[in-house]
Amino acid sequence: MRGKKQMSAALIVCLLAGIASGCAPASVQPKKQSIRIGVTLYDQYDTFVSQLVEYFDICAKEKGQETGIEINVVLYNAAGSQSAQNEQVGEMIEDGCDVICVNLVDRTEPTTIIDMAEKNNVPVIFFNRELVEEDLERWERLYYVGAKAFESGIMEGEIAAEVFLGDPAADKNGDGICQYMVLEGEAGHQDAIVRTEYAVSTMTENGVELEKIGYAIANWNRAQAQTKMAQMLGEHGNRIELVLANNDDMALGAIDALAAAEIPRADWPLIVGIDGTDVGLAAVESGEMAGTVYNDKEGQAEAMLELAYALSVEEDLEPLELENGKYIRMPYAKVWPEDVDDFRDGQ
Ligand code: GAL
Repeated sequence: MRGKKQMSAALIVCLLAGIASGCAPASVQPKKQSIRIGVTLYDQYDTFVSQLVEYFDICAKEKGQETGIEINVVLYNAAGSQSAQNEQVGEMIEDGCDVICVNLVDRTEPTTIIDMAEKNNVPVIFFNRELVEEDLERWERLYYVGAKAFESGIMEGEIAAEVFLGDPAADKNGDGICQYMVLEGEAGHQDAIVRTEYAVSTMTENGVELEKIGYAIANWNRAQAQTKMAQMLGEHGNRIELVLANNDDMALGAIDALAAAEIPRADWPLIVGIDGTDVGLAAVESGEMAGTVYNDKEGQAEAMLELAYALSVEEDLEPLELENGKYIRMPYAKVWPEDVDDFRDGQ
């Protein structure tokens, strides 16, 4: 039922509107005194996405203070249902949102949302779960904020290759070949497909001979990854030399399985992740993970807020330097154990 999934009308910032209107020159006067940004998440319990949106709230508060405009962020959880998400977007439009930020449940099903947005002339910023370009081209007021998936795969492959080649003990059976397994995110998600492909090809290009001994889909989820890793350990035991995880939560799930099976730390495979979430960084620092790749949630949140703001107050988008007028993609960065402190509060 409408309204039930709304989690919070989170932010109402800005007591300075009156002061600002008294002081600012007429030429920089914003057109609106308040804006409303709707956000819907594919799953509010996803570690990376929830940290991104937490930071988005912080950016909105800061922007409100800086501009003297009241910025209201209304957050919804689609909880894995595309039809619920479509309804939420309808509700946000009815509520008068100036812009809607959509973390699609199903990246192949944006049609209903696009049609509603176009009909009501409300711009949409898709984020983190990338729809195909043809869909983004369907209306001029559609945008995407995310990252370059292939880059994260390359960096993960570089970390894994460097550690494997630099540590003879990593080749547990001494056969000169890296026996590896992959923990994959959702089937069909751009980050899962591209990260796996590039991590593996990069390792090969960096001179590592590879033998794939297994893979499992664990939907970005720590508990699912633990279950899948426990099965792999049952099948392959000490043969696994490397776990390439599409994200940190799944890398942590693998660690949970190793710990639960009471495998001595010296016998653990190398484990590499992607995201640099707080828990991921802690595992890199403790040496449980060999490294991770920083998925710049702060950069993505900030870019999304700036774009949402500019669209809401009808400001020029030029300074945001959108790729093809539609895309903002933040770069990734490698995180080694000694770099963890540099990434703790963002890059
Ligand atoms: C990825 C991220 C994953 C997960 C996924 C959800 O970019 O690395 O941890 O959050 O997005 O779409």
